[in-house]
Amino acid sequence: VLKVNAGEVKNTVAPTLHGIFFEEISHGGEGGLYAELIQNRGFEESRIPPGAVVVNGMLDGNPQKKPHYNLNGKASNWKMPWPVQTDFPYWKLETGLGADISLALDKNDPLTAETPQSAHLSIKKLSAGNNYFANEGFWGIDAKKGETYDLSFYMHSDGSYKGPLTVLLLSQNGSVIASHTFTPAPRNEWKQYSCALVPSASDGKARFAFSFGGTGNIWFDFVSLFPRKTFMNRPNGVRADLGQYLADLKPAFVRWPGGCFVEGINVESAPNWKTSIGKLEKRPGTFSVWGYWSSDGFGFHEYLQFCEDIKADALYVFNAGVSCEFRSGTFIKDEDLQPVIDDVLDALEYAVGPVTSRWGKLRAANGHPKPFPLKYIEVGNEQHGPWYARRYNRFHEAIKSKYPGIKIISSMGIGDINKRTLDSIKTTDMADEHAYKGAFWTFNNYDHFDKYKRGDYEVYVGEYATNAGVGAGNMLAALNDAVYIMGMENNGDLVKMSSYAPLFENVNTRHWPVNLIKFKSDSSFARISYYTIQLMNRQRADKNLPVSLSIKKPEDPKPRNTGGIGLATWDTQTEYKDIEIVRDGKQLYKSDFVNRPGEWQSVRGNWQVQDGAIAQTVQGPQRLMLLKDKTFDTYTLKLKARKTSGTNAFIIPF
Ligand code: AHR
Repeated sequence: VLKVNAGEVKNTVAPTLHGIFFEEISHGGEGGLYAELIQNRGFEESRIPPGAVVVNGMLDGNPQKKPHYNLNGKASNWKMPWPVQTDFPYWKLETGLGADISLALDKNDPLTAETPQSAHLSIKKLSAGNNYFANEGFWGIDAKKGETYDLSFYMHSDGSYKGPLTVLLLSQNGSVIASHTFTPAPRNEWKQYSCALVPSASDGKARFAFSFGGTGNIWFDFVSLFPRKTFMNRPNGVRADLGQYLADLKPAFVRWPGGCFVEGINVESAPNWKTSIGKLEKRPGTFSVWGYWSSDGFGFHEYLQFCEDIKADALYVFNAGVSCEFRSGTFIKDEDLQPVIDDVLDALEYAVGPVTSRWGKLRAANGHPKPFPLKYIEVGNEQHGPWYARRYNRFHEAIKSKYPGIKIISSMGIGDINKRTLDSIKTTDMADEHAYKGAFWTFNNYDHFDKYKRGDYEVYVGEYATNAGVGAGNMLAALNDAVYIMGMENNGDLVKMSSYAPLFENVNTRHWPVNLIKFKSDSSFARISYYTIQLMNRQRADKNLPVSLSIKKPEDPKPRNTGGIGLATWDTQTEYKDIEIVRDGKQLYKSDFVNRPGEWQSVRGNWQVQDGAIAQTVQGPQRLMLLKDKTFDTYTLKLKARKTSGTNAFIIPF
């Protein structure tokens, strides 16, 4: 019996419940949301990030082995694989027989001090065939017949280059679908060239190339190709289809720029909002912990502009003076923190300060006198413990005293804030809890948030997704996500905001198992979870009424002679042993293995168990599927797993 008390309101559901979280991961921005079509446009992709060195072909972000903070107070050896790039990734010389053209990375004559690398071509002899210096784009360039693409690049010569220089868009079969010819100035200084290219045919995997018509020395830098058509047709804007997906979710806010990206591989190279604004050619970019450079073309200003364009509030996450703790991180000492605090206050002044202020004036000079809709700020990403709390308190105090209306979010909350205390955080507006769960977890934990102690803070689930036991994301994942959202809605007094993660995946380079919106150069699609969130947001309830439910247990069914299926799943954090199958109180099977986290192969295989019931694992490591033998009469099978560590087992019995 379901009883609904229509006369009372249990709690309300916040209109801010659904937002989005953008991070530079899986090329979600670079070669994704940011509409630039040339990959490695500034020849900076092979640059070593500040504070890092190369050891055995890999980047080491913490060469001095400075002590770093982590949860257990112990140093962690684990590092992301950050192989060092070759000199010219995504670019190549394509020449016919007899050509004598050499290519070298030049660090002596930078276009800007912030972007030290450029490409030097020494063209001694041309071939009778192609003499190309070509770029593959982001695994292809989407050239659409009749549409306009704006090309610009910097070039200089030492006076020796004689002859024309042609720029080309090439289809996959090598035919020229757009071209323009320049006569380069013989001057020994950087000069910008630009033109519009309009393809005569469409090709979703086109390439760009310089074609040399003369010999001599020539240098290139900052080669940019932009579709004229972007989301809301903004120059240096956002890819139209991907921007539209985000706008169609009608998110209340956009969390940016990470995630682990915020933390950086060390504090020296962590993102810096100040170097992500202004002239594109002067932005040094940020080396993402996910192993590639972001050009920061979608920088702080563009992000704020995008929020305004899609009518969402901005939630800016800043580096709290510590880099990715499990990834060779470094940190800024407490006594040196003041410049970091000042930097955050400057960011807020840029976003919302008056035009008479130093940074507000710069915002106006960059084309936006009005304040941007920045309403939230988050202190670091996934940090916790008393060390973080101490630091959080300083940021909180400084921000609140200048910007009392801005909500400050503590990143302490990963896992389960219900189990942790907020340590010595004096006061916070919101705690950000991250929730990556396995299949079926939410079905068994619908009441997860019901159990939370209420404090003087609200909860923001900054990252959630069902991302284990669901392949790369499927209907089961979407159902789990839906139930998770219902659990948040039901606790509307506590959970005020949420965002799925990660948002994007360029299918050519995936860094995370399950992502919301997938794309390649010429196409994109959103997974079912996207439509789930959209539906739940469109049909968002505004109130919860008190409900009580009583269930009459059905009679035991009569014996039948049919087969059946049972399914068990558990999370990857947990160790189990003694997995039992029990029939009518009698043990049919008991596992002789210890199922350790990350060692799922130990449960694979077929087992013939007593009385003819067959137990079998299927569909990957996180599920144990039990098939009843057809010759049985009906019985009750119970599946039990004893956990030896970690969190609960999630078992759906027969
Ligand atoms: O969303 C992917 C990663 O998951 C984020 O960068 C990080 O915050 C979390 O651990």
